[in-house]
Amino acid sequence: MVTGKPLLSSEQISQRVRELGNMISEDYEGKNLIAVGILKGAFMFFSDLVKTIRVPLSLDFMIASSYLGTSSTEEVHIKRDIEDDLSDKHVLLIEDIIDTGITLNYIREHVLARSPESVKICALLDKKERRQVEVPVDYRGFEIPNEFVVGYGLDYNDMFRNLPYISIFKKST
Ligand code: IMP
Ligand code: MG
Repeated sequence: MVTGKPLLSSEQISQRVRELGNMISEDYEGKNLIAVGILKGAFMFFSDLVKTIRVPLSLDFMIASSYLGTSSTEEVHIKRDIEDDLSDKHVLLIEDIIDTGITLNYIREHVLARSPESVKICALLDKKERRQVEVPVDYRGFEIPNEFVVGYGLDYNDMFRNLPYISIFKKST
């Protein structure tokens, strides 16, 4: 079940999104920016965030899936990649949440291998306590405790993504 009081209300989220948009707008002035949303989780954050960015940009999406590989280590697979040539572009990866860091670290290395001008990361939520792989987070919305959260794009079994706020999810017993 989704617990009563939101961890982050839609007002708190939209205020923070505007702040992130302001920082990004300043940092990318005069740069060839491509905003890349990581689906599905980032869909709502991505669409709200790009509306607050005041520099010209192009956009694209990536889909990555992670699964437990044969040696019990987590493996990541890119199911959809950025289409454009990246050699003259500054890439901003936009993700819903960083947990262990495994997914974003893999995506970041994959994008870096395509030789863009730069790669930066913007994540709405950061569960820092859970980190297994160090990933540089350039823009962070909120640091949250080690709880499973849903809403505003985040899911449990692909449900609850449409909630306009973020709540802690607990399995009912
Ligand atoms: P990482 O590779 O462990 O950093 O995992 C990141 C991915 O795990 C995110 O893109 C989410 O899809 C998922 N995830 C991690 N924590 C949560 C959570 O609290 N709620 C929903 N999805 C989560
Ligand atoms: Mg997910």
